[in-house]
Amino acid sequence: TRIVVLISGSGSNLQAIIDAVQAGDVNGQICAVISNRPNVLGLERAKKASIDTLVLDHKEFDSRDAYDAALMDKIDSFAPDLVVLAGFMRILTPSLVQKYLGKMLNIHPSLLPKYQGLNTHQRAIDAKDEVHGVSVHFVTEELDGGPVIVQAKVPVLSNDTAQTLALRVHEQEHIIYPLVVKWFSEQRLTMEAHYAVLDDQKL
Ligand code: GRF
Repeated sequence: TRIVVLISGSGSNLQAIIDAVQAGDVNGQICAVISNRPNVLGLERAKKASIDTLVLDHKEFDSRDAYDAALMDKIDSFAPDLVVLAGFMRILTPSLVQKYLGKMLNIHPSLLPKYQGLNTHQRAIDAKDEVHGVSVHFVTEELDGGPVIVQAKVPVLSNDTAQTLALRVHEQEHIIYPLVVKWFSEQRLTMEAHYAVLDDQKL
């Protein structure tokens, strides 16, 4: 499985996937890490692991369509089987989403369908939720709306701030994202219409 990871920032989820690949847990390799922001920590993590890196700065493009067209070219140059969005903070055009339908994953820090969009931790606190969490899902044209594959739950504590809650959620992110990448790499995971399907026979 040839994997391309898209990031915008610190890349702690990227690191968790790099670690899983290096541990032999994933049937494949990360061919490239692409960032829309220069000089982010995630790029350093990739370089340290001897993975090709590429910066495609959205500020250098006039429109979202032009950016996504260039991004598709770059992604395709690595001929990936799987595209992993790991903190890639961009809204994708429908043509990009269509192109990788069933082959693109995202991680979103909420128990979807709750709290699509930004500031999920603060919103969970404001709503006095007792439980919060994170979801890994296939990417479809609906923002944070594609079929959910795995969710992990964490408790919301009475003295939590968005930061402390985010830390607790992050620990779970680093467990479930590599797990889903592993399943995909073993060809156990498919998107069928609006559902994610995991083949249990191949355990
Ligand atoms: C994570 O919270 C993830 O859920 C969200 O963006 C953040 C990325 O963090 N989509 P990192 O760059 O992997 O550390």
